[in-house]
Amino acid sequence: MKILVVGKGGREHALVRALGEAPGAPELFCFPGSDAILRMAKPVEADGLEGLISWMVENGVDLCVAGEESYLVKGEGLANLCKKAGIPCWGPPRESAQLEASKAFAKAFLERHGIPTGKAVTVGHADEARAAIDGVYPVVLKFDGLAAGKGVAVCQKAEEAEAFLDEVLVQRRFGPGDLLVEECLTGPEVSIFAAVVDDRYLVFTPARDYKRLGDGDEGPNTGGMGAVASRQLVSAELMQVIDESIIAPTIAGLAKDGLPYRGFLYFGLMLTPDGPKVIEYNCRFGDPECQAVMPLVHGDLASFCLAGAKGEFAPELLKFDEGWSVCVVLASAGYPETSRSGDVIQGIDAAGRVDHAGTRLNASGEWETHGGRVLAVVAGAAGRAEAVAKAHAAADRISFDGMQRRRDIGLLHFEAS
Ligand code: AMP
Ligand code: GLY
Repeated sequence: MKILVVGKGGREHALVRALGEAPGAPELFCFPGSDAILRMAKPVEADGLEGLISWMVENGVDLCVAGEESYLVKGEGLANLCKKAGIPCWGPPRESAQLEASKAFAKAFLERHGIPTGKAVTVGHADEARAAIDGVYPVVLKFDGLAAGKGVAVCQKAEEAEAFLDEVLVQRRFGPGDLLVEECLTGPEVSIFAAVVDDRYLVFTPARDYKRLGDGDEGPNTGGMGAVASRQLVSAELMQVIDESIIAPTIAGLAKDGLPYRGFLYFGLMLTPDGPKVIEYNCRFGDPECQAVMPLVHGDLASFCLAGAKGEFAPELLKFDEGWSVCVVLASAGYPETSRSGDVIQGIDAAGRVDHAGTRLNASGEWETHGGRVLAVVAGAAGRAEAVAKAHAAADRISFDGMQRRRDIGLLHFEAS
């Protein structure tokens, strides 16, 4: 089986690794990939999305797996083009991927299908935003488009809201687009992943992402500084509530709205005092949650995704570990505002399972930083405390100039357990 994974980050590193572990040893390709991914997968000689599709047809690719969201909504859309070319694609078409690409679309979908979520209004100008905020803080402001995890601000006071309004609606940091002014919800967050095949779905191991840069959830939001995954994160009773009030109505809503879906669907939830509510949908696996979840997935992920992409639901191909998996992200100097490339990384080989997110090989054959999030160090164990200790000890073996890392991944938000 020939599988092509689209993307280049830590999530794709973990996906390529997991797909490659499938029985039958599939032949793996990655586009655009990274130096590290291309040690496990072969490179693809293609330019742009159309070129990629032609390459897949010419090379007899059996399955295209969408890792990164941007390709799903680029041009005609990765899955749409795959469909035209007759290539099974694990990832939804452009129209369904609006659930992630447009927060206003997602909010309207949630409201239309009666799925619990924070109240919100969509505005186009700073004055409308001020009127919608109406002096009530904290408030959440969300740019209505893809912004690599940086388009959301939880504002405690007016100055923070003003700074974000200026950045997004005046300076247009993320380009054109509206803004959602959303009710601020409180409670622990949990990321739920469903592998959706039309009207059926399999829920993967839940995870918790640590989005803030600093220990104690201080500092700016990032793409994610670490993650913890375990079935024990969510009790069976709570999972039933999530399934009945959120996952099942979402899958039914997609069908009602005529939105086809085959691929991973990520539910970003907040466990509020009034029950679980959706804060976002993503039309792909989480990053860095994927790096934490994949070691817990056993069986034949490659055949599961191939069957799913063809409309066959085959949950019997997968099983999930009961244990805990912890992923610690190491980020470069300046992240998340900027990132620094070219810092030589020491100790990767001594750290066990490491997924590369932003690295490259320099002329001397050493790994160096090449992006904001650089590495994800992953370790697992039967219990949380042991998995946490192992992951942090492994991360301690790696160093580079300007390295930023959290020390409380897997500890914060578990004080009571
Ligand atoms: P999003 O990109 O929508 O997941 O937002 C990024 C982060 O902002 C989330 O993981 C939450 O920590 C926070 N956030 C988003 N929406 C809300 C909300 N309505 N209330 C409180 N925090 C939120
Ligand atoms: N970890 C958050 C995300 O993948 O969007």
